[in-house]
Amino acid sequence: MTIAKVGIVGAGTMGSGIATNLGQHGLEVVLYDSRPEAVEAAIASARRFYARQVEKGRMSDEAAEAAGARLGAAADLGAMADRDLVIEAVFEDFALKADLFRTLSDILPERTRIATNTSCLRVSDLQRHVAAPARFLGLHYFSPAQINPVVEVVRGEATDPAVIEEALAFCRATGKLPLRCRDSYGFAINRFFCPYTNEAARALDEGLGTTAEIDAVAKEAVGAAAGPFFVMNIIKPRINLHAIRNLSPLGPFYAPAASMIEHGEADRPFAIGEAGEIPEARRRAIADRLLLGVFLPVLQALDEEVASPADIDTGAREALRFAKPPCALMDELGRSEVTRILAPALEGYGVPTPAALARVGSLRS
Ligand SMILES: NC(=O)c1ccc[n+]([C@@H]2O[C@H](COP(=O)([O-])OP(=O)(O)OC[C@H]3O[C@@H](n4cnc5c(N)ncnc54)[C@H](O)[C@@H]3O)[C@@H](O)[C@H]2O)c1
Repeated sequence: MTIAKVGIVGAGTMGSGIATNLGQHGLEVVLYDSRPEAVEAAIASARRFYARQVEKGRMSDEAAEAAGARLGAAADLGAMADRDLVIEAVFEDFALKADLFRTLSDILPERTRIATNTSCLRVSDLQRHVAAPARFLGLHYFSPAQINPVVEVVRGEATDPAVIEEALAFCRATGKLPLRCRDSYGFAINRFFCPYTNEAARALDEGLGTTAEIDAVAKEAVGAAAGPFFVMNIIKPRINLHAIRNLSPLGPFYAPAASMIEHGEADRPFAIGEAGEIPEARRRAIADRLLLGVFLPVLQALDEEVASPADIDTGAREALRFAKPPCALMDELGRSEVTRILAPALEGYGVPTPAALARVGSLRS
């Protein structure tokens, strides 16, 4: 099925950004929110985005006008009945989303695809609240969705594989880089991004370095455009804590660090000073911890076939701005160096050695 008409339910940060992207790429969109003012704000924000694109010479006046005209407000969920695809982007609350999917199931014809933008809930659990669940999937956009090119396309237990292929084509047609993912805690990208920030917080708690030093080392270790504390402050410590807590079923390695809990529960940003000169031994110790936070979850995700090495690296490079994406970096460092980096977690947390460790050196081939 060709997707031309899209409905978005929830016009907050993500719904607004997704609508902006779709309008720009020729899709006809209607937005619904239980607060009508959120829909007005989303459409106004999209029009401002298109106007800035015109100023930067990336869009013509006519294209910006046409993109804005493609975005409409829905007075109620009934307006979703003629859509090819409905994307849900309401609050991250299981009961709220499940209730919405039961309501949508009564309104939408069976041909309408339904997607959730959930970050932390299991797609397969939400799928149980959808009539004709084979048409349901996860489309996990990254913020800001009008700019960030990555979308995780998540197959739930009951999703029809043809629906995934359609969604991959839809993402490409709307200027996105889709990553094919299995339904799993944190999908492909948060699976290692959250533990990476958590290892940064553990390194801070253990006195391995200051926030500024850890941020500076991250720029070298994974080629991050900005360090983990700077990024956590942007995401908001409360949201980051929620995301890492969501990974807790994966074992004690994923349990939140003390400073992560402290800052997250108070939703207080991390203070970041100046890094200054960092002694070599300290630099190495911090780098090892950050790389552990990335490598162990990625190898486990490869064992679980959550995503391919190429897709994991694309997500790291494009969604997180890691110039040294994990699978390519592990291949470059080699198996014995990766084994040395993993050792503290394998011993300290009793984590079984990931089978994918044996493939390090040729993960990307
Ligand atoms: N913010 C991010 O960085 C980010 C990134 C990826 C995914 N997500 C996920 O996207 C979803 C939305 O997050 P957000 O940051 O845009 O939230 P948000 O709070 O900015 O917006 C949510 C919107 O949903 C509306 N809403 C709530 N209940 C509703 C209902 N029953 N019907 C219609 N509208 C309803 C609210 O009025 C609000 O405008 C969440 O599941 C979140 O986990 C967020």
